[in-house]
Amino acid sequence: MGKKNKQQRIADVREFKNVFEYEHFREEKNLKGKWHSEIFKNQNPITLELACGKGEYSIALSQKFPKRNFIGVDIKGPRMWLGAKKALEKNLWNVRYLRAFIDHLENFFTENEVNEIWIVFPDPYLKKERKRLTSPKFLEIYRRVMKPGGLIHLKTDSKTLFDYTCEVIRNENCELVEIVQDVYRDSKNNELVSIQTFYEKMHLQKGKTIRYISFRL
Ligand SMILES: C[S@@+](CC[C@H](N)C(=O)[O-])C[C@H]1O[C@@H](n2cnc3c(N)ncnc32)[C@H](O)[C@@H]1O
Repeated sequence: MGKKNKQQRIADVREFKNVFEYEHFREEKNLKGKWHSEIFKNQNPITLELACGKGEYSIALSQKFPKRNFIGVDIKGPRMWLGAKKALEKNLWNVRYLRAFIDHLENFFTENEVNEIWIVFPDPYLKKERKRLTSPKFLEIYRRVMKPGGLIHLKTDSKTLFDYTCEVIRNENCELVEIVQDVYRDSKNNELVSIQTFYEKMHLQKGKTIRYISFRL
């Protein structure tokens, strides 16, 4: 993507009615704790798509589950632009996007506000464990905004991140729900697990194995 195009997308995202940023959570305008009442204007459960990139999961899930709300979270506006634009074009108002660092989720959500989380092809951060989105540090952040027993799904091409997450789940006494070593060989939950993102398509082209795990906090 050219520099001009990138700048244009950053500017567009600021104007999109379905994208929220830090400024929406400042001072008297603060929307923290008001996703149901002020943004979605319903009490339907909220699912986050973390590291959403172009937001393919939130778009696909919002169409499959019109009685649920979805929020894609990522720091990169130009990627999010694609998902947000698609949602506007398709008139999907049960999906929104939040451009922010996942590290700061507590600035945007209050306790018990989130029901479920999908983490889809996050960077595996092979050398920086603390930055991994399934590290104990991040699980603690999710605990502070999720309902007790909230379900977390991880889909990844990284065996290192997958094995690491299994170990964290054990150490943190989380409840393992499902573990799939090869999504396209073994999964029984194809309807959800086989939604494909931009990164997943690249990994599949390279012949990588896609793994999935879900657990409750
Ligand atoms: C490898 S991409 C995957 C994007 C998308 N899920 C997909 O499968 O195509 C990882 C994404 O995570 C985002 N990301 C990584 N760490 C983050 C953090 N701490 N806060 C917000 N976004 C983050 C990056 O901006 C990037 O868009």
